[in-house]
Amino acid sequence: MEPWLIVGAGRLGLQLARGLSQRDVPLAGILCRSPESRANAGKVLPEQLLLDADDPLPVVARVLLAVRDREIEETARALAPGLASQAVILHCSGALGPAVLEPLAQGGFATGVFHPMLAFPHPLEPPVDFRGAVVTLAGHPVAVAAARELAQALGMLPVEVSNLTWPLYHAAAALAGPLVYALLQAAREELQRAGFPAEKAPQAVANLAKTAAEHAHRAGGWGFLTGPLVRGDWETVRAHRSALQPEVRAMYDAITAFTRARLGRELPLEEGEREDE
Ligand SMILES: NC(=O)c1ccc[n+]([C@@H]2O[C@H](COP(=O)([O-])OP(=O)(O)OC[C@H]3O[C@@H](n4cnc5c(N)ncnc54)[C@H](OP(=O)(O)O)[C@@H]3O)[C@@H](O)[C@H]2O)c1
Repeated sequence: MEPWLIVGAGRLGLQLARGLSQRDVPLAGILCRSPESRANAGKVLPEQLLLDADDPLPVVARVLLAVRDREIEETARALAPGLASQAVILHCSGALGPAVLEPLAQGGFATGVFHPMLAFPHPLEPPVDFRGAVVTLAGHPVAVAAARELAQALGMLPVEVSNLTWPLYHAAAALAGPLVYALLQAAREELQRAGFPAEKAPQAVANLAKTAAEHAHRAGGWGFLTGPLVRGDWETVRAHRSALQPEVRAMYDAITAFTRARLGRELPLEEGEREDE
């Protein structure tokens, strides 16, 4: 495999560089911008891989941009003169798609997307387990082939796409990741307000969420959903609504409305249900 230059030692970049170096994937280095990100990188990577902004960069044929979405195009443009001709340039944003690197593609580079469907909350902790996680690949066939190699080296599940509606794809990923996280925070708050021991609330919520995620995965649809909406226990739903904090009730109502609309087509509605809405 050609060595990869990782640009950006932030949340995703450093976790990825660490994962790759642990699997002996050849790395040309990781480009660090601030002293803070360089210090983080020094904790988990050998010194010879750390590159500063003013270091001469190795001429490489594989670049992975792990910079913020708004910095992707500018960073790629700045690096381009030092890259091998027809080098592969990937970015990691799920919001933008390959189009953001189109000017580089026009210049003869093989550009594409390597978007791990994983959360990277911090550059170092906890170490992210890449195995089995989906990574979405798109772009020039040469870029996608290089991205596939990278994914396989990490034990990830590459999914190659074309003509994806990127904002919608990214919104779906947000629903399954950060917005679930926020929902779990709401559940913790309400458990504690109900008088449940605070120190046990994270475990209780995590177990329920893990089970729900496993059931949703196995069912691939609504078949394994549980709770009062499935049972048609509308009195219970009413009692929930009057007990919740207003901002949590708003989320509860939105998710309830969506669920009822979807289940309404598949489950017989109980008498009087429509009047509850
Ligand atoms: N975090 C996630 O959960 C996640 C998940 C999937 C995809 N992504 C995508 O991954 C990309 C990176 O996101 P992130 O969360 O890792 O952001 P981040 O933590 O803010 O990291 C971005 C890093 O890029 C560095 N950087 C910017 N320009 C640079 C340059 N010219 N040379 C060297 N380093 C440079 C920054 O350096 P300094 O801060 O040191 O100045 C920072 O360390 C984004 O496209 C994002 O959409 C993130």
